[in-house]
Amino acid sequence: MGRQDDAALSVREVPADEAPMALLMLADPSEEKIRAYLPGSRCFVGSSDGSDVAACVVLPRDAGTYELMSISVRPDRQQRGHGTALLKWVLAFFGRLGARRMEVGTGTFGHQLAFYQRQGFRVARIDRDFFVDNYPEPIFEDGIRHLDMLRLVREYA
Ligand SMILES: CC(C)(COP(=O)(O)OP(=O)(O)OC[C@H]1O[C@@H](n2cnc3c(N)ncnc32)[C@H](O)[C@@H]1OP(=O)(O)O)[C@@H](O)C(=O)NCCC(=O)NCCS
Repeated sequence: MGRQDDAALSVREVPADEAPMALLMLADPSEEKIRAYLPGSRCFVGSSDGSDVAACVVLPRDAGTYELMSISVRPDRQQRGHGTALLKWVLAFFGRLGARRMEVGTGTFGHQLAFYQRQGFRVARIDRDFFVDNYPEPIFEDGIRHLDMLRLVREYA
C-alpha cells in the first residue's frame, strides 16, 4: 500500500471494503454498481487537514490496461486542486506498476471532460445511450440529461 503527499493532499490505498461510499456516490449514483466493481478494484483515499476529502477507484482490466471507475472530491473541497492531485498521483502509481493505458468513461459534457483531458486523456469512442440503458433514473447535470458516455484513454509513453 503506497502513501505519498502531493501538495496539500496525502494519498493512501485502502482495502476495497473500506472504500468511502458517500464520496464514491458523488461520481456514480448507483451504489449497486459501485459494490459490483469494488471487490476486484484498488481504492485510494486522499486526505487533507486530517479529513478524507477525495477518493478514486481503479479496476485492472487486460494486461497493462486499467480503468478508472470513479474519482471524487467532497463538494466543499472541490476546485482546490485535490481532484487533479489525486488523478496525477493515481496515474503515476499505475505507471510505476507498468500500466500502458488508463481508461475512463465519462459524460459528453461538463468540467470533468477538461479535468481528464488536461492529464492527457483522449476520446476513444462513444457509448451511445449508455446512461439511458444502464441507469434506472435519468441523470441530469447543469440541466442537461446525460445520454451518451465518452470512453477516454490515456496512453503511457
Ligand atoms: C471532477 C472532480 C473530481 C474534480 O475535482 P476538483 O478537486 O474539484 O478538481 P480540481 O480542483 O483539481 O479542478 C481542476 C479543474 O476542473 C475544473 N472544475 C472542477 N470543478 C468544477 C466545477 N464545479 N465547475 C467548473 N469547473 C470545475 C476547473 O477547470 C478546475 O480548474 P481551475 O481550478 O483552474 O478552475 C470533482 O468535481 C468531483 O468530485 N465531482 C463530482 C464527481 C464526479 O463528477 N467525478 C467524475 C466522474 S466522471
